[in-house]
Amino acid sequence: MLPPIQVLRNGHDMDQSTIILGIESSCDDTAAAVLRDGERAEILSSVVFGQTELHADFGGIVPEIAARAHAEKVDICAKQALIQAGVTLADVDAVAVTAGPGLIGGVLSGVMFAKGLAAGANLPLIGVNHLAGHALTPRLTDGLPYPYLMLLVSGGHCQFLIVKGPGNFTRLGGTIDDAPGEAFDKTARILGLPQPGGPAVEAEAKAGDPKRFRLPRPLLDRPGCDMSFSGLKTAILRARDQVVAEKGGLTRQDRADLCAGFQAAVTDVLSKKTERALAEYLALCPAEPALSVAGGVAANSAIRAGLETVSNAHNTRFTAPPLALCTDNAAMIAYAGLERFKAGHRDGMGLSARPRWPLDRQTPSMLGSGKKGAKA
Ligand code: KG4
Ligand code: ZN
Repeated sequence: MLPPIQVLRNGHDMDQSTIILGIESSCDDTAAAVLRDGERAEILSSVVFGQTELHADFGGIVPEIAARAHAEKVDICAKQALIQAGVTLADVDAVAVTAGPGLIGGVLSGVMFAKGLAAGANLPLIGVNHLAGHALTPRLTDGLPYPYLMLLVSGGHCQFLIVKGPGNFTRLGGTIDDAPGEAFDKTARILGLPQPGGPAVEAEAKAGDPKRFRLPRPLLDRPGCDMSFSGLKTAILRARDQVVAEKGGLTRQDRADLCAGFQAAVTDVLSKKTERALAEYLALCPAEPALSVAGGVAANSAIRAGLETVSNAHNTRFTAPPLALCTDNAAMIAYAGLERFKAGHRDGMGLSARPRWPLDRQTPSMLGSGKKGAKA
């Protein structure tokens, strides 16, 4: 009998591990990454072109500017990712791209580019939900088995999810107004700190007294794990105005104290609501005690520490991705694409860009307008 024919593309043995090129462009980061499957998926490259300076004069992300910048940079970004990974398109087995939710112009830039690339190189195309990218990150970084409880907390999102499979999510609750990252960004703006606000507020908070200003802990008195952060930002605005009215301006210490108070309030709310979500999760999945956090706000060390304390108190395994994989990146998109690819999922040239795309269609979010507009 003849041996089976092996197709070799550019020296890449097809029987070898799968290689995925991931593309992300849903908000203000243009990103591309190359991932190789194996015993554990390995990130061969992860390139992120941020747009912070482009939006700096506007006090927030300008969708049209973001979309143009993605369209200009996405091909350069993908090329760099391939070069850094030491592979060519001929080695790649599939292209995974964020198809939503997000700013539609940016999502379209990525989807159109990925379609062109996949059609030109005759590669399968896989549309990935950006939120799934965040939610599956602990599987990429720590090999976390299904199921687990995920707190997805970023500039545009905040939700508790039971993650049971690459396309199987149950939403337990989330924010009813702003996402915490958005509140960090607005707080930074109110206090004259640079964007993105999260890292700036965290740095200032280090020198601050979290108890000086009495700030609210919204919705803690209500059952369930829904949250609210818009009142907190208003409380910061009032506290700032009061100090300015009394002293004629803010000292460095005032600013640090306001940042510390704000961060402590967000940490408190997230920790207490996580405690409730964890109780709900453990009642459903008592044999798999696992909690993870993802999204840009998961980069905050006070918040990570708060969640870890909750986990430890309930004998639950806690994982948090390295900082570079908390904020938007394409390695998480390539990984979510890899899981879908292995499950046999393929998208054709009809793949649409979606501004909204809830992970759990049964229990949709109550989220209003976030940084990226109304979405999941
Ligand atoms: O996940 P991400 O990159 O984009 C979205 O999908 O939204 O998250 C960005 C958000 C921003 O609002 C940023 O201020 C926040 O994450 N962020 C942080 C920190 N680093 C980034 N928030 C608090 N503390 C941080 N260290
Ligand atoms: Zn994100």
